[in-house]
Parts: sequence; structure tokens; C-alpha cells
Amino acid sequence: MSDGSHPTRHGVHAPGRAAIAAPHLRTDRWWVSPLVTALGLTAFVAYSTWRAFANSNYYTEPYVSPFYSPCLGTNCADMPLGARWPLFGDWWGLSPALLVLIFPLGFRLTCYYYRKAYYRGFWAAPPACAVPEPHAKYTGETRFPLILQNIHRYFFYFAIPVAGILTYDVVLGFRDQHGHWGHAGLGTLILLINIVLIWAYTFSCHSCRHIVGGRLKHFSRHPVRYRLWSWAGKLNTRHMQLAWASLISVAVADFYVYLVASGAFHDPRFF
Ligand code: FES
Repeated sequence: MSDGSHPTRHGVHAPGRAAIAAPHLRTDRWWVSPLVTALGLTAFVAYSTWRAFANSNYYTEPYVSPFYSPCLGTNCADMPLGARWPLFGDWWGLSPALLVLIFPLGFRLTCYYYRKAYYRGFWAAPPACAVPEPHAKYTGETRFPLILQNIHRYFFYFAIPVAGILTYDVVLGFRDQHGHWGHAGLGTLILLINIVLIWAYTFSCHSCRHIVGGRLKHFSRHPVRYRLWSWAGKLNTRHMQLAWASLISVAVADFYVYLVASGAFHDPRFF
């Protein structure tokens, strides 16, 4: 309000804004979406924290959990080279998942969709469209630490080799428990679905779309980049759905490997 009668004079009550007494004018259940988002992300964070620190049951021939791949420590489970990349010592015995999760975690944390999701779900900044946020000041992503969100495109570059290594893990899944090729089980299928969703999520990234098709004056002179940009654009329209689908699939893939590795479930073989 501009007459000074309202105790707070920021956001929708800032001088010059329409003097509306109601906190907002939405009559739908706008809070459902941020609530479900917050619950979903909290469940994933709780599960992944448990699994990342567990440091056990992440490999069983021929499957490796995506949470622990590439396994970069010298303290990785005994698995074939290719799934194991012992480059970084044993890191004082810490779980090797902590070494590699920095990259997919950073990619997702700085993702444009997830930013929207957790700004709304956890920080209420704002909780929904046309619902004012409760914070006194809004600086967006112009200051530290949120300005660091701009490194997203660099995490994209790391996401590509990580997805490539997970693809290799899926190829390893086409063996039986004795290392013979040409076999597949339920775990192979789960890892395969997971990597398809991870690639789709990665290529639907806004940064990917810009990298392949941005900063061009004439698409007509760059037909290949134009084609790639069109494909990335089509996937980009499904970025939110792919973000959730790949988040769920990576947890399911890890949980499946956990169940088989711990002996709680016997992996059915198709051939
Ligand atoms: Fe979501 Fe890049 S914008 S992964």
C-alpha cells in the first residue's frame, strides 16, 4: 500500500502497487503443487542420503547402482574395470558415492526446473503464481549464493560423460553372473529404462538447447545444428516430466541393485 497503513511495504505491498487487502486472489488449491513437490524432493533426498552413505550393496554381478557409478575411489567394490575407475584414492574410507554424486546432484540442483520446484516447495519464493512470497527482500539470482546457479551449463558438460558411463553400465548388464554376454534380466531392463530417461532429461536441458542452437544468426547455414536444436526443443517441452521420471527411475534402479546385492530379491533372467 502506498498510504503507509500496511505494516510491510515490500513485494505486493510496495509503494505504487494496487492496494489489495487480500493476501492473494487465487481461489484454487494452489498449495497442492508446492506441497507435493516438497514431499517428493524430501523423499528423494532422504533416500539418496541413506544410500550414498551406506557404502554397501551397490554392486552385484552384472549390475552397478547409478548412485555409485562411475566408482572413482580405490575403495570401490570389486567390480570389472569400466564400472570401477579407481582414480582418487580411498578418500579416508568415505563412501565412493559421495565422490561422484557431486556431478549429477549439481546438475539437478542448478536445473532450471528444479530451481523453480524447490524455490516454490521449500522457500515459498514465491509459493505459486500470483501468490506473494513472505520474504521482505527479493534479489533473485543476482547475488551470492544464488548467482552460482549460473554454473548450470558447466554441470551439463559433466552430465554427458556421467550418462555415458551409466550407458556403459547398462551394456555390462547384458551379461550373466559369470560374465558371459548375450543375457539380460529384470535388472538390465530397469537400468536400460533409467538410462533412456537420464539421456532424455539431459538432452531436454535448457543449456543443451542453447549450446546446440544458440548464438546463431542463420539456421539455414547450420542445418545440423538446426536439426539438433529442434530435437532438443521438442524434449525441452517435457523437461519437468523428464526431471521427475529420471529422478524416480534412478532411485528405483539403485533400490533394485540394493535388493539383489543384499540377497533380498533374486534377479529374474529373461535369457
Ligand atoms: Fe534442467 Fe538443464 S535446465 S537440466
